[in-house]
Amino acid sequence: MYYKELKISPPFMNASGILSFVSVFEYLEKLGVNVGAWVTKSIGQKERNGNENPVIHQDGDILMNSVGLSSPNLDDFEKELKEYKGKTPLIISHYGEKPDDYARSVARFDKYCIAHEINLSCPNFIPGEKSVLEKVNPQEILKAVREKTNKPIIAKLSPAQDYLEITERILDYVDYICCGNTIRGLDIEPISGFSYLSGRFGGISGEVLRPITMKMVYEIYKEFGDKIGIIACGGISKPEHIISYARAGASLFQIGTALAKPSVEIVNFFNTLGDGIETLLKKIGVNSIEDIVGVNYVD
Ligand SMILES: Cc1cc2nc3c(=O)[nH]c(=O)nc-3n(C[C@H](O)[C@H](O)[C@H](O)COP(=O)(O)O)c2cc1C
Repeated sequence: MYYKELKISPPFMNASGILSFVSVFEYLEKLGVNVGAWVTKSIGQKERNGNENPVIHQDGDILMNSVGLSSPNLDDFEKELKEYKGKTPLIISHYGEKPDDYARSVARFDKYCIAHEINLSCPNFIPGEKSVLEKVNPQEILKAVREKTNKPIIAKLSPAQDYLEITERILDYVDYICCGNTIRGLDIEPISGFSYLSGRFGGISGEVLRPITMKMVYEIYKEFGDKIGIIACGGISKPEHIISYARAGASLFQIGTALAKPSVEIVNFFNTLGDGIETLLKKIGVNSIEDIVGVNYVD
């Protein structure tokens, strides 16, 4: 077992692919935002444009995207990291097609971050395939990455994957499981009959994910909660959601779709989240989130 705690305060951050850029992180900090870390958009070894537009479709609270892991030039990305002036620590998210892609990326960017997030679950990367794990053994990826860093490693899985089996296989190399990524779906425009998204299918995110992802957190915590930490990511839009996810077993939290709003509202959202959590913890009668992680009466 190899568990290194990721110590950040407050315990919440953005989800990878939302806000995305170092310059946006810096801008939000100038506006006074308080988050525990920033997570970069997943970076790959090759420069990629991602899928053609339209890549975003929103219907009420449901968001679908088929961005498809667009990735900047690595030298440009490193320049941004070098010039980053924010105070909030960075978590760098990585994707690849083979273990060596992930290992090289982790080695190159290790000095710029406090932890690495290993994206094993993007549903839009390789058209027609579900994720990198259809071709590569997750254990090989995580083993290769572990050899390159002593910092905490987060493996990001999706509720649509066989997450218990995958977690068991990578347990010796990871510190956290991020639950989870989007789930692949389809929505058809009724008059034309075309998909709303150019990539045909897209990853569903937002409110609809929460109960699905909460079950994932609960099950992983029950099985492996004494060996690894859990980051909840799926449909969080208010303090109550964070408390519920903590009760399911998560100790850190990421927010994606709920941040699709103007900068000032994003700052306000994050800066009132902490107070909301405090009020709920008082109501429960405990001092901190750690006191309720995994404390539920579901069985
Ligand atoms: C537009 C968009 C781009 C995303 N890009 C990435 C990405 O690059 N890497 C990744 O691991 N997840 C990516 N995600 C998934 C989110 O990080 C998150 O797992 C998912 O949206 C669920 O959280 P939410 O319901 O709070 O949005 C993306 C999601 C959206 C909506």
